[in-house]
Amino acid sequence: MHHRYYGTVHWEEQRKSYRLWDQRWTNRDVCGIIENSSYHWCLGCLDDNEGVHLEGHGIDLAIYLDCAATTPIEPQVQQEIMHYLGVEFGNAGSRTHDYGIRARRAVEKARGQVSRVVSARRSEVIFTSGATESNNLAILGLASHGLQVGKTHIVSTQIEHKSVLEPLQTLARRGFTVTLVAPNHGGWVEPRIVREALRDDTLLVSVMQINNETGVRQPIGEIAQLLDDHDAYFHVDAAQGFGKEFRPLCNRRMDLISISGHKIHGPKGIGALITRRRKNRRLPLTPLMHGGGQEFGLRPGTLPVHLIVGLGKAAELALEGWERRTQRYREFRNRLIHALHPLTPVLHGDQNRTVPHIMNLSFPGIDAEEAMEALRDVVAISDGSTCTSASGTCSHVLSAMRLTDAQLDGALRLSWCHMTEEPDWAAFVEIIEQLRKETSDPLTAKDADQPTVAERSVVPFTSLADVKYENIPG
Ligand SMILES: Cc1ncc(COP(=O)(O)O)c(C=O)c1O
Repeated sequence: MHHRYYGTVHWEEQRKSYRLWDQRWTNRDVCGIIENSSYHWCLGCLDDNEGVHLEGHGIDLAIYLDCAATTPIEPQVQQEIMHYLGVEFGNAGSRTHDYGIRARRAVEKARGQVSRVVSARRSEVIFTSGATESNNLAILGLASHGLQVGKTHIVSTQIEHKSVLEPLQTLARRGFTVTLVAPNHGGWVEPRIVREALRDDTLLVSVMQINNETGVRQPIGEIAQLLDDHDAYFHVDAAQGFGKEFRPLCNRRMDLISISGHKIHGPKGIGALITRRRKNRRLPLTPLMHGGGQEFGLRPGTLPVHLIVGLGKAAELALEGWERRTQRYREFRNRLIHALHPLTPVLHGDQNRTVPHIMNLSFPGIDAEEAMEALRDVVAISDGSTCTSASGTCSHVLSAMRLTDAQLDGALRLSWCHMTEEPDWAAFVEIIEQLRKETSDPLTAKDADQPTVAERSVVPFTSLADVKYENIPG
């Protein structure tokens, strides 16, 4: 028998209920929806003999401050997903019965929900598995056309995500010339320098909307304007900005936009490439895979209806709740800055251009890895962007911004969302202060034999080291 338990946990108790949410990782199924300021919980237990208690089953996890890596799912999104996974499970390609017709309708509704966020037409949305695939499709998909028309130059930036840099590396191996513009110290590329990098044979300009490590907005609107008299295609990796910062992405000069479901409280494994028509003609993209002709022939394969519906719902909620969410980001940021003030943090990146839900910072004298380890029980924060002694590499983004060795060594990324609970800031401060004491104590200080960051940063990104890029200093 499948037991069901219902309960209401009020906002003040959100912390407790949120822990319960994580029981999805155990063998229990837990789902809930937010209504007004309450969480309504529906707890299901798969084991007949085991009751589900509101307390005693929670996994004691630290407060999640890594929303730039992935976001918690919105309960309403989860509900939609479960419906199309379990009840309306039809194949959107089946035209002979209602299962298929209803699935197709759900997909088209989601296409509309996604297109509205960027003021695109429904037919301009191509569903993919996420921003990585969208970036690959945008960049590699234009290559055949480029070769045909003799345009083999691409302009991008040194601070792009690897899912842009690595396809560019592939094209560089195939004879394309790739110009990577450096950011300034504030972590953004100057539009003027992007403009100067353009050539007559420039096929594509690819610039991200918001940097995932620093949260710094890139001037994509100004770049779009500067591209007015050039016919290069303009691609924007908007994985971090879609559903959060709308206006810039509504500009129709942006031909290609990559988006991702799991960055906006939707499911993982789904995203889209927006492919805007030019003069009512489709962009000359070549698919990366071949098969059933789905998604206007650009992305074949049976559509994952439940994920698409989840992305659609997440996009709709993002559009509806945008102001409320942004307000929450700002309030959290203010409290964070206030709480961490005694630690005299150094904020990396131009704070006039940084989004209110991502912060890259260092605490003078504190090594990032040591800090993350010491803070492990209090907050979950990113280590993906900092220098790691194991791999001997540093963040290519922070290196390109020319941070000092100490800042590179100490860089931490904190990122949050409208669902983020308040961490125990006092414990956070105490831990870092304690670390500082230990570091300045010669008996406990770290062995001075370690390679310096300057030595490590000589090879900032090894997998790309074999490609000769033309780097333009910012
Ligand atoms: C800027 C940027 N681009 C692309 C991606 C890849 O997105 P996905 O996980 O949907 O493939 C990410 C994810 O971290 C990102 O931050």
